[in-house]
Amino acid sequence: MNAPSEFAQVLASPPHAVLGYKDFTIGSFNFRRDEYFAHITWKTKDGRPMSHTMDAGNFLRALMRDVAWGFFYGWVNFDDVIGTVNHYKSVDLYAGSYNGTMKAAGIDCLENFPTEQIRPTFEAMLDDWTNEGFDPFAAPQETGSPYGRKNGYNTAKITRARELATRCVGLKGDLNLRSDERGAPVNRAFADVPQEQPELHPEPGFENEVHAFSLFGFLSRSQVTWNPSFTSVVKYSYMCPTTEEHMLPIIHGNDRVEWFFQMTDEITWNCADKNTGKPMARVIMKAGDMAAMPAYCRHQGFSPKRSMLLVWENGSPTLVHEIQKGESPEIPVQF
Ligand code: PHB
Ligand code: FE
Repeated sequence: MNAPSEFAQVLASPPHAVLGYKDFTIGSFNFRRDEYFAHITWKTKDGRPMSHTMDAGNFLRALMRDVAWGFFYGWVNFDDVIGTVNHYKSVDLYAGSYNGTMKAAGIDCLENFPTEQIRPTFEAMLDDWTNEGFDPFAAPQETGSPYGRKNGYNTAKITRARELATRCVGLKGDLNLRSDERGAPVNRAFADVPQEQPELHPEPGFENEVHAFSLFGFLSRSQVTWNPSFTSVVKYSYMCPTTEEHMLPIIHGNDRVEWFFQMTDEITWNCADKNTGKPMARVIMKAGDMAAMPAYCRHQGFSPKRSMLLVWENGSPTLVHEIQKGESPEIPVQF
């Protein structure tokens, strides 16, 4: 947890008398939830009141990712209208600014907030609007309903902490990724994934330096969907495997190139122009396929059966500026 800051105060209304949910305000944006929907309101530059509505479950699944990933890389579109852009110390919150039609009509709104101000607001909204039986990180078939009047909290499930390794996982003194020993069951969709661990034959004296574990076995026990873990970090090369079921709850617009390696099953991606949302491509990825998403696109994946995906990110903190200045390409290769 970060230290409380001068912004840590969250502007929230008292709970609604009948529905039980609080309203949240940040800048000129207001957020309200009812039994089925999240409603977002703002004003246009010339003062006209605007509103947008999202399904409450879709809204909470997107909000969960935005909060858990610290606003991620670049754009987190909750849908075609609202979302955030990460500037790494501050965050833009927008409605319609990356929707070609709304932008052209001048009915969009974008405001920048210090991360220390928007994070506690989003955290408080996620906590207040997530009912007891609903886990926004779980696949829809593996959790209860997001709908209805306010009914308890699910704070433990929305504040899952990443387990951080300080050296190769499995080595003495660090995490044990053999989750079977920690009680995480194999997911119903991965009942056929072998659970044997690799054989290790380190030279005498190197027993504490060499290790290996079954990545498929590890992933088969993941309790969450669409949540890449950092399984290896070599300088700025981040290998982020994840298990995917149903659809990516956000439409991600990256500020850099990112690679996908489809390790099992199948995911279909819709790719669109990052600035306008204009459709660009459908990418159908089967087990063994690799694809790169250029930095100028936004993308959303659909996984009919729980699958394993390796997301490969370049985590360099200077890359976004290099791309903006034209020093680094927006595409992975020039043919
Ligand atoms: C992505 O935006 O590229 C992304 C995010 C989460 C995932 C997979 C891919 O689980
Ligand atoms: Fe992405």
